[in-house]
Amino acid sequence: MRRSKRKAKSFRFRPFSIKQRRLLNWWRDGSPYKGYDIVIADGAIRSGKTIAMICSFLQWTFDAFPKGEDFIIAGKSIGALKRNVLKPMFQILSAWGIPYEYNRSENFIVIGRNTYYCFGANNESSQDVLQGLTAAGALADEVALFPQSFVDQMIGRCSVDGSKIFMNCNPRGPYHFMKLEFIDKADEKRIYHLHFTIDDNLSLSEKVKERFRRMFSGVFFKRYILGLWVMAEGIIYDMFDEAVHKVPTVERNYSEYYVAVDYGTQNPTTFGLWGKHGKSWYKVKEYYYSGRDEGKQKTDEDYYKDLEKFIGDLYDKDRNHDPYDYYSEPKLKAVIVDPSAASFIALIKQKGKFPVMNANNEVLDGIRNVATALKTRMIFFNDCCTNTFREFYSYVWDPKAQERGEDKPTKENDHCLDADRYFVHTVLFNGPATLETGDLGLGNW
Ligand SMILES: Nc1ncnc2c1ncn2[C@@H]1O[C@H](COP(=O)(O)OP(=O)(O)OP(=O)(O)O)[C@@H](O)[C@H]1O
Ligand SMILES: [Mg+2]
Repeated sequence: MRRSKRKAKSFRFRPFSIKQRRLLNWWRDGSPYKGYDIVIADGAIRSGKTIAMICSFLQWTFDAFPKGEDFIIAGKSIGALKRNVLKPMFQILSAWGIPYEYNRSENFIVIGRNTYYCFGANNESSQDVLQGLTAAGALADEVALFPQSFVDQMIGRCSVDGSKIFMNCNPRGPYHFMKLEFIDKADEKRIYHLHFTIDDNLSLSEKVKERFRRMFSGVFFKRYILGLWVMAEGIIYDMFDEAVHKVPTVERNYSEYYVAVDYGTQNPTTFGLWGKHGKSWYKVKEYYYSGRDEGKQKTDEDYYKDLEKFIGDLYDKDRNHDPYDYYSEPKLKAVIVDPSAASFIALIKQKGKFPVMNANNEVLDGIRNVATALKTRMIFFNDCCTNTFREFYSYVWDPKAQERGEDKPTKENDHCLDADRYFVHTVLFNGPATLETGDLGLGNW
C-alpha cells in the first residue's frame, strides 16, 4: 500500500463571505438548520462553494464523530475530484496543522479516526464499492454532473445516525433532477439551500470577476455567472457573429497548424485546418465529404489520401527534418481525431507521416469552451468554410433532452462543429483549471 505523507502547501485563507459563513456553520449549535440532513450550495462558478464546503464538511466530521466513522467524498471523476477537492483539502488540513494520510492507489484518506473514501461518479466500478459502504456523511462536489443513480445510492449509503450530506453544483437545465428533486423540494425535504453568486467569493478581484463575465454569453452566462437553472434552447453558438468571426480567405503567416477530424462512416467526414496567427487561431480551410449525399462511401484509405492532399506540403517530413536545421520544426503539430474513429487513427499511425492525437471529446465542456473562444475572439473562420457556417445556424439544443433534464445538441448538422470543438477543447483549453491564473484557459473545471 502506497501512502502519501507528503505535506501539502498551506491554504492561504482570505475572509469568508456571509454566504460562505452560513455554509460553514449551518450544522452548529444555535443554527436554525442544525436539524437538517442535507445542504446544497448552488450557483455561479468560482463563487467559493467548494472551499467553504470542504471546511464545513471536515469540521463537521471531526465534531460529530470523534470516535471515527466512514465518509464519502465524490466528484464527477477521480481526476476532477483530485483537482477541485483533494488538492485544496490537503492545503486546508496543512493550514490547520491536522495530519492526514492519503492512500493514492485505493483512494481513501485517513484523518484521525475517520476514513474518507473517494469516488468518481462517472466510474461504473465505483458504484460497486459504494454499494458495500455504510457511511456517516458525504461531500459531493459538482453533483449536477453525477448520474442520479449515484446521488441516490450515495444518500442511501449515509445510514449512520446523525449523517449529513453536503452537495454543491453549478446550475443546469430547469428539469435537471437536482433542481426538481432537491432544490424545488428543499423545504419539504428539509434541505438547506444556499445560492451563491460571484460576489460571495471575497478572494476574487473586480478585474477577475469582470473577466469571467466577459467570457460567457447566452445560457452559459445565465448559468455560470448568474447561477440560474435555465433551459439550453435554440441555437447553441448564439455568440457566433459573422461580422466578427467570418474573415476573408487570405494568406496569413501562420506560425503553427493543427488538423481536426470528425470521422463518419455513414455520416459526413470533415477536416478543419487551424492556423495560429499572432494570438488568434484561424480555421484556414475545411474538407467535407458526405457518402450519403455523393452516393458513394469512402474507405479509410480514400480518406487518408484526401487528408494527405488537404494537408498538402505543410508537413513535408524530409524537408522539415533537415538535421542541421534546428529551427525548421514541422509546422503541423498534430492531426486530432475523435478517439472513436479507431481504425482511421490506426491507419494514420501506420502510415507514420503525421503526428496524431486523440481528441478530448467531452461534449458539454467542449461546447462551453468553443462558446468562450468565440465570445473572447480567440477563433476566426476563413470565408471559404461554407459548411461550417451552415452548421453554425442549424446547431441547436435538443428540446426533448432538455425535458429529461439533459443538455444535448441534436445530432444533426454537427460535423464541422464537432471537429472544431475537438480542436478548441483539446488544444486551446487543455490541462487543469487555470481560471485563477489570469489566462483565458478554462481547463476542465
Ligand atoms: N475564503 C477563501 N480564502 C481564500 N481563497 C478562497 C476563499 N474562498 C474561495 N477562494 C478561492 O476562490 C476560488 C474559487 O473558489 P471555489 O473553488 O470554492 O469556487 P466554486 O464556487 O466551487 O467554483 P466552481 O463552481 O467553479 O467549482 C478558488 O481558487 C478558491 O481557492
Ligand atoms: Mg467548485
